[in-house]
Amino acid sequence: MGIEVVVEGLTKSFGKQNIWQDVSLTLPAGEVSVMLGPSGTGKTVFLKSIIGLLKPEQGRVLINGVDMVNSPEREIMETRKLFGLMFQDGALFGSMSLFDNIAFPLREHTRKKESEIRRIVMERIDIVGLLGAEGKLPGEISGGMRKRAGLARALVLDPQIILCDEPDSGLDPVRTAYLSQLLIDLNAQIDATMLIVTHNLDIAATVPDNMGMLFCRNLVTFGPREVLLTSDTPVVSQFLAGRREGPIGMSEEKDAATLAAEQLNGNTALTAAPRSVVPQLEPSPGMPVRQGALRRRERVMAMMGQLPEAARTAILHSYTPAAEGAHR
Ligand SMILES: Nc1ncnc2c1ncn2[C@@H]1O[C@H](COP(=O)(O)OP(=O)(O)O)[C@@H](O)[C@H]1O
Ligand SMILES: [Mg+2]
Repeated sequence: MGIEVVVEGLTKSFGKQNIWQDVSLTLPAGEVSVMLGPSGTGKTVFLKSIIGLLKPEQGRVLINGVDMVNSPEREIMETRKLFGLMFQDGALFGSMSLFDNIAFPLREHTRKKESEIRRIVMERIDIVGLLGAEGKLPGEISGGMRKRAGLARALVLDPQIILCDEPDSGLDPVRTAYLSQLLIDLNAQIDATMLIVTHNLDIAATVPDNMGMLFCRNLVTFGPREVLLTSDTPVVSQFLAGRREGPIGMSEEKDAATLAAEQLNGNTALTAAPRSVVPQLEPSPGMPVRQGALRRRERVMAMMGQLPEAARTAILHSYTPAAEGAHR
């Protein structure tokens, strides 16, 4: 059912440049989480730290009791086998067919027979909708297909934790929508714990169970989608609305004077933003119910008492059958 990832007090610098500090969060088992944040805030560095490829100076990343920061390298390597990774550019070998690209981890890390490899690869190719394209070279297919091939390759070793770094980069809106649905269907089928890094607001609003955001060297928030989508924290609401007004500036942090001027200009957008919870994508017809989504909803119900009135109202409204029926 996927594995929980617990991040505790993680701090990472390169030389004198601090990337982020004291980041703590838990990726709940079998749920889909998204990490948002302006470019350069260290999202990719965060993913690499989770799998132990980069070493933060402080903190722990616990997976099945193994600390991906401080455990012996042998244990880290072993635990890394639980992961499926999908990098920004698909990272396919240009001179290999899609089939060989997707088979690569199996040939590299297992001793499976070629017939067994063929069965697994074709099954994953089917899941990502690339049947018929397996003989093509990466250069002969579209960017969207390359992304899906990268995802298929991330799936061949039956990962329990899947990390996707900007799976939507370079995709048009329609292909991004297909990819979003694919990620949800995948989670329904294999129940893996997923962390997706993106700045795509449609993905953020409709795909994940949980959202986090890195900003100004801190994790400013992490929580269930219902809570984030109804948040009145300025950085969160600005980012989710894609507005210029707010604490996030072109070079990340606006100075205090600019912010004060915006507020003096009678900018009501910050406070008057409507509180609503856009419906989450459902698995395609015929797919299993997402167990992670059910568990998340229970978590949200348990924390309802601590939420502001406007958030509570919006969340309860989103749970009523009428609201759910509206998008089916
Ligand atoms: N291996 C590295 N050595 C030194 N600096 C790095 C390294 N990797 C990333 N950085 C720096 O860390 C910062 C965050 O990078 P990154 O995680 O790629 O941001 P994001 O993915 O959020 O756009 C950048 O300023 C980048 O230059
Ligand atoms: Mg990045």
